[in-house]
Amino acid sequence: MALFQDGTIALVTGASSGIGRAVAIDLAKQGATVLVNYRSNAQGAKEVVAQIKNSGGKAAAIQADVSDAVAVEKMFTIIKRSFGKIDVLVNNSGITRDSFLIMMGKQVFDDVMKTNCYGCFYCTQAAVRMMCAAKTGGAIVNIASTSGVVGQEGQANYSASKGAIISFSKAVAKEYASKGIRVNTVAPGFINTKMTTAAGNLLQEKYLSYIPQGRFGEPEEVASVVTFLASSLSSYITGKTIVVDGGLTM
Ligand code: NAI
Repeated sequence: MALFQDGTIALVTGASSGIGRAVAIDLAKQGATVLVNYRSNAQGAKEVVAQIKNSGGKAAAIQADVSDAVAVEKMFTIIKRSFGKIDVLVNNSGITRDSFLIMMGKQVFDDVMKTNCYGCFYCTQAAVRMMCAAKTGGAIVNIASTSGVVGQEGQANYSASKGAIISFSKAVAKEYASKGIRVNTVAPGFINTKMTTAAGNLLQEKYLSYIPQGRFGEPEEVASVVTFLASSLSSYITGKTIVVDGGLTM
């Protein structure tokens, strides 16, 4: 039996590739109607939607740059008009702009904060407003990172943004638990996506040696945890972070 009731509306940000793509496909497999958000990769989003529909699921692509408050407001206006509500939000969009601290410019710090933190803030605020107005409750899953739990050299900006997402999620979870809204975080370690291939072979080999399970994770191994936290299987879990890292930070 599917985990989500027919008519469950789920928005996944940054879902045209990588982890977001796997999350969108998994939520749809479990019966949710999935809104596949993308910033500029319309082709990738179209392919995700097609893949979901070809498997008998329901999906639609929706464009918005999550770091732009006005664009996020427009996206939620479209969701309200077209679907009337939102049940699940997965804040997955994220970027890295790695640099050692002493060379880190203000711009790269701002860029990472704008997409990772402000993006999560804008979308969560809009979703919570809709969930409260509709009195439906809901589930929000924010994608952080082990960098936000233990810190990662060369990623002071990214680690700060992901740590902020974890504490932001706890605060919102406390604020809206009484409204039936659960907010949890998933903190992946090294997952096979273009974000990790961008690190290059040498760094990848170094990171591999730190992982007890001896391999990088697959996007689907993150997606199944997100689906768990988005579904009623986790109905008594809120304000928590589940780390998915092959034992890296145990
Ligand atoms: P990815 O680069 O394939 O996915 C990131 C997605 O976010 C892309 O589709 C991108 O277009 C989208 N995006 C970026 N800026 C956006 C914006 N302003 N508005 C809307 N969408 C935007 O990389 P991956 O690995 O799938 O990353 C997904 C999430 O997982 C990110 O939040 C990342 O920080 C996090 N993560 C990834 C890890 C990994 O090892 N791959 C480890 C820990 C966390």
